[in-house]
Amino acid sequence: MSTGFTQRLAHTQALLERIATEFTPAVFASSLAAEDMVLTDLILRNKINIGIFSLQTGRLPPETLAVIEQVTTTYDYAIELFYPNPQAVAAYVDNKGIDAFYDSVELRKECCHIRKVEPLGRALSGKAAWITGQRRSQSSTRAALDEQEHDTAHGLEKFNPLADWSEEDVWHYIRTHSVPYNALHDAGYPSIGCAPCTRAVQPGEDIRAGRWWWETPESKECGLHVVDGKLVRINKSN
Ligand code: ADX
Ligand code: SF4
Repeated sequence: MSTGFTQRLAHTQALLERIATEFTPAVFASSLAAEDMVLTDLILRNKINIGIFSLQTGRLPPETLAVIEQVTTTYDYAIELFYPNPQAVAAYVDNKGIDAFYDSVELRKECCHIRKVEPLGRALSGKAAWITGQRRSQSSTRAALDEQEHDTAHGLEKFNPLADWSEEDVWHYIRTHSVPYNALHDAGYPSIGCAPCTRAVQPGEDIRAGRWWWETPESKECGLHVVDGKLVRINKSN
């Protein structure tokens, strides 16, 4: 656990409570990975009025799908699931190929748009704020991540309550609160997305090195997190 963990935890819990009070209705987007299980536990354990949803892309690994069941068993809570438009998926698969995302960044972003970004728009419709599990230290594209930002693309406030948490903080919380987590984390997957676009990393490798590993670090965002019309934040300290 890193120095200051207790303060970071208290701050995150207070922030979630403030969001629920000041931004009703607020929702939390869960990818079911470790960070998101910390937020799930904080919300459900403390009965904070924030709904939890997950984007079911149709390409998630079975280990991720199993976490949905674990949440139901542990917390007696059903995560709301949003699915892609079936016609859009069929058109992509028929015209470009089911795994066409390996061919170019454009085809990859198109697949992410159909399977994640468009369903996200439906999930956020009518909401006052949404919450993510992003952390600054996850990648170069997140180094300047703010705890609170205005999501102009979707027209609502966006919160990243774990922005200043370390990976060590996340695992300390999970272990000390017996939070269920994705089995792939114990098999070398620090970051987990769709099965064909995620692989294990080698010890010492960047934690997002296994996501879209055939692309350069700068393009490795799926389009869920657009800031000022850009996918990549300009580091404000530069
Ligand atoms: S991303 O590039 O796929 O967005 P990452 O897996 O690091 O990156 O997820 C960052 C945050 O985006 C998660 O903490 C979560 O809030 C949201 N997110 C990512 N994937 C999903 C998903 N399938 N369903 C809901 N939220 C998601
Ligand atoms: Fe498609 Fe891969 Fe994006 Fe999932 S992560 S939506 S399979 S391109």
